[in-house]
Amino acid sequence: MRKNIVAGNWKMNKTLQEGVALATELNEILASKKVNCDVIIGTPFIHLASVCASVDSAKLGVAAENCADHVSGAYTGEVSAAMVKSTGAQYVILGHSERRAYYGETPAILKTKVELALANGLTPIFCIGEVLAEREANKQFEVVEAQIKESLFDLSVEDFSKIILAYEPVWAIGTGKTATAAQAQEIHAYIRSVLAAKYGKKVADNCSILYGGSCKASNAGELFANPDVDGGLIGGAALNAKDFMGIVDAF
Ligand code: 13P
Repeated sequence: MRKNIVAGNWKMNKTLQEGVALATELNEILASKKVNCDVIIGTPFIHLASVCASVDSAKLGVAAENCADHVSGAYTGEVSAAMVKSTGAQYVILGHSERRAYYGETPAILKTKVELALANGLTPIFCIGEVLAEREANKQFEVVEAQIKESLFDLSVEDFSKIILAYEPVWAIGTGKTATAAQAQEIHAYIRSVLAAKYGKKVADNCSILYGGSCKASNAGELFANPDVDGGLIGGAALNAKDFMGIVDAF
């Protein structure tokens, strides 16, 4: 059956020293207690190698927040999937709404990034979600369906089975406005039905679908109690150990 996962996305926060300190603190906490989900932290590129060297990867997974849409070469400032993999990271967050909105990442670019991540042995945490105007027009279902189809539905069953999805309604990210448990369950169930129609019920049932958007310790329990919500992708509340572990402990 699918895994429950709590993943942090640090975004553009923390110096290298601050990041290593937080990763080390989380690693120590996780070494001394049993938790009921996989725990992952997504860090800036420059933190990855040091963070990976500081944690037990069996207890605390490490994700990049992006990777390039090219294999290698003259792409100044970019970081390839192979480079991410060489740090020891196991995951890469792709398709975050901030990347889509601020850096022009199209479904076609994201399709390439997903394929390169998989080719390099990284597990993509693929983000989807509608903006407020789309939610208000009740278009959230068609929006997420298109995002999934355009970037993921050329994958083989074998490759698709490696994907983790994160539904993040853009209107809930960093706003303090969380989707209700019922809204999350409704769209997660819809997403699973879209996966089932393409790849079959077994693959859909095995796919972890995380919720993201102002998820914190105080609402995580209610969100994670839904049958189709398999954990969270956490921004602000992933920036300190107490808040983040409060969410992990919701499982
Ligand atoms: P917040 O938890 O800060 O709303 O961010 C969610 C997010 O974007 C995680 O990727």
